[in-house]
Amino acid sequence: MNQLFNLKVNIPEKKEYSYDILIGEGFFQNFEEIVKKYSSANKFLIVTNETIYKLYKDKIQLGSSKFVILPDGEEYKNFENFKKILDAAIENRLERKDCIIAFGGGVIGDMAGYAAASYMRGIDFIQVPTTLLSMVDSSVGGKVAINHEHGKNLIGAFYQPKVVIADISTLKTLDKRQLKTGIGEVLKYAFIEKSCGADLNYRFFDFLKNNKDKIYNLDVDTVSNLINICCSLKAAVVNKDETEKGIRAILNLGHTFAHAIENLTNYVVYTHGEAVAIGMKMAFKLALLEKYIEKSYYDEALELIDLYDLVPAFSDLSKDDLYNEMFLDKKAQNGKVRFVIPNGSFEVGIFSDVSKQYVFEAMN
Ligand code: NAD
Ligand code: GLY
Repeated sequence: MNQLFNLKVNIPEKKEYSYDILIGEGFFQNFEEIVKKYSSANKFLIVTNETIYKLYKDKIQLGSSKFVILPDGEEYKNFENFKKILDAAIENRLERKDCIIAFGGGVIGDMAGYAAASYMRGIDFIQVPTTLLSMVDSSVGGKVAINHEHGKNLIGAFYQPKVVIADISTLKTLDKRQLKTGIGEVLKYAFIEKSCGADLNYRFFDFLKNNKDKIYNLDVDTVSNLINICCSLKAAVVNKDETEKGIRAILNLGHTFAHAIENLTNYVVYTHGEAVAIGMKMAFKLALLEKYIEKSYYDEALELIDLYDLVPAFSDLSKDDLYNEMFLDKKAQNGKVRFVIPNGSFEVGIFSDVSKQYVFEAMN
C-alpha cells in the first residue's frame, strides 16, 4: 500500500516549508524519476554503509551518482566519517544545487544530513530510510548530527530533507534485533500521543496492543499504517516546535536515560531502540514514584513494552556514572537535568525538579 504523506514544518523566521514522506513499496522501480521530481541536482552523492551497499547497490543506481560507503555502526557516527562525506563532496565537485542522498538507517541519515547541512552552507538532502527506526523517526523532522566522545548527537543542526522515501520492502533484510529496536521508538509515540496534539481519532496504544504479529511479520498494510501514524504524530510536534525550544522535547521520552546508557557502553552493547526501551521503563518508574501516573497505567504501559520483548538484560552500570552522564544530555538546562516523564495516560511532561533519590530508584 503506497501512501503519500505531507509533513509541514513551520519555521517562523523562514517561509513555511513542507515535504512529502512516501511510504510503501516499489519506489526503487522508478527511483531516479522520483528523486528528480524532488531535486533538480545535476550530481547526487549517495551516502550509505558497507552492509546496505552490498544488499542494495543495484537498486539505487542513479545515472549521475557517486557512492560514499562508510563502515557500519553507531561508533562510526563521528567526525572522521562526517569528513569523509565532505571530502567526497569536494572531490566530486558537488555544487550548491546538487544533492546528498542518505541511504540507510538513522546513523547514515543523521550523518549524511549534517554533511548536507554543512557543505556550502546547505545543499539538497534526500532521506531514504532503510530501518524501521529511521522510517518512523530519524528521517523525519530534520534533526541531523554526529556524536562527540562526550555525548551523543552533540554536534548537529536542524536541516529538513526535500523528501523522505520509505520503501518498506527494505525491512525484509533487517535482522529481528534491528526491527525490534525500531519498535522502541514506535512505542514512544503511543505514550506521548495525547501530548502531540495531532488531529487523529484513535489510540495508537491499542493498535500496537492488537497488531504485534502483523508488525513483526511485516504485513505491508499494517506496517505502512504504523509508519504513517508515527510520522503524523511526529509532524504535529515538529510543526509546533521545529528547533526544540519546548514541546519537541517530548519526542525524547526515555532518551535522557537512553543516551547516558549508550554513551557509557560506547554504543556497542545496546542498540538505540533497546536503550530507549530501557529508558522508557525508567521514565515510567520515575513517574510512578513521583505520583504523576496511576499504578494501573504504569502496569499497562510496562505490559506493552514487555509484549514486544525489547529490553535485553541490563548490564551493571554504575548509577553515579549514569547520573553524571545525564548532565551532558542536550535537554539539560541551567545545570539541571530535564526528564520527559509520563504525567497521565498517553501524555508526558518535561520536568527538571525530579527527586535525585527517585531517579536513582528508577534506575533499578
Ligand atoms: P543504524 O543506522 O545503525 O542501522 C542499524 C543496523 O541495521 C546497521 O547495522 C545497518 O547497517 C543495518 N541496516 C540498515 N538498513 C538495513 C536493511 N534494510 N537491511 C539490513 N540491514 C540494514 O541504526 P538505526 O536504528 O536505524 O538508527 C539509530 C540512529 O538514529 C542513532 O544514531 C540515533 O541517534 C539516531 N536517531 C536520530 C533521530 C533523529 O531525529 N534524527 C531519531 C532517532 C534516532
Ligand atoms: N527523535 C527526536 C526528535 O526528532 O526530536
